[in-house]
Amino acid sequence: MCKMILTGRTVVVTAGPTRERLDPVRYISNFSSGKMGYSIAKAALDMGARVILISGPVSIPVPEGAEKVDIESTLDLLDAALKFAPEADIVIQSAAPADYRPESVSPVKMKKKGGDDMVIRLVENPDVAATIGKNKRDDQVFVVFAAETNDVIDNAKGKLMKKNADMIVANDVTKPGAGFNVDTNIATIMTMEERFDYPLMSKTELAGIIVEKAFELLKGKNA
Ligand code: PMT
Repeated sequence: MCKMILTGRTVVVTAGPTRERLDPVRYISNFSSGKMGYSIAKAALDMGARVILISGPVSIPVPEGAEKVDIESTLDLLDAALKFAPEADIVIQSAAPADYRPESVSPVKMKKKGGDDMVIRLVENPDVAATIGKNKRDDQVFVVFAAETNDVIDNAKGKLMKKNADMIVANDVTKPGAGFNVDTNIATIMTMEERFDYPLMSKTELAGIIVEKAFELLKGKNA
């Protein structure tokens, strides 16, 4: 039986990949399945929260009771985050937004040009987390993720600061059983003061830990 510690609280969770369109039939994306974010949404619901789940395109069931907001691109994610983050006590940014998008989207299917290489110019997307962090109120808790392949702890510490987050969940996505499109994860959770290293566990279990830790931070801010 879960503790209903989040009754009366609103948790905004972002999940899944973004898609950056090239033409009407092609896009750039990544391997995020939404499993981590959806598990977090379910954990927060089980603890009594109202949950707004901002989700990229995924094919897993929506946890019962979550208010789902569909997004496609990183720019959509930014719009949704700006709209819903102010309502939240806790924002957990587990989505995997594309850092770049094609400079232009062809209105018609791009054709092969017989032997020539194709060059696609990409432009930088906004850092959604940094924007949420910048606008964060003192009574809100903001959690980000770091998907790393090297220098996991140093990179994650840098992201915790750059995005003005209260907590970061770092996963080394090169480890078997961790990261994208698996049911398990291996995480290090850090705040500015503390660090906790976790072994391989289900995303369901890790989600419970993340939400409880976010709640502890929320209590501290609203004491
Ligand atoms: O969906 P699953 O298959 O379960 O996989 C889970 C996961 C691997 C996607 C998840 O555990 C995870 O690591 N999510 C973060 C992925 C990511 O984009 O990491 P990053 O290190 O590139 O970004 C750092 C933080 O900034 C993240 O909170 C990210 O959401 C955010 N970000 C990144 C780029 C961008 N343009 N805007 C952002 O807000």
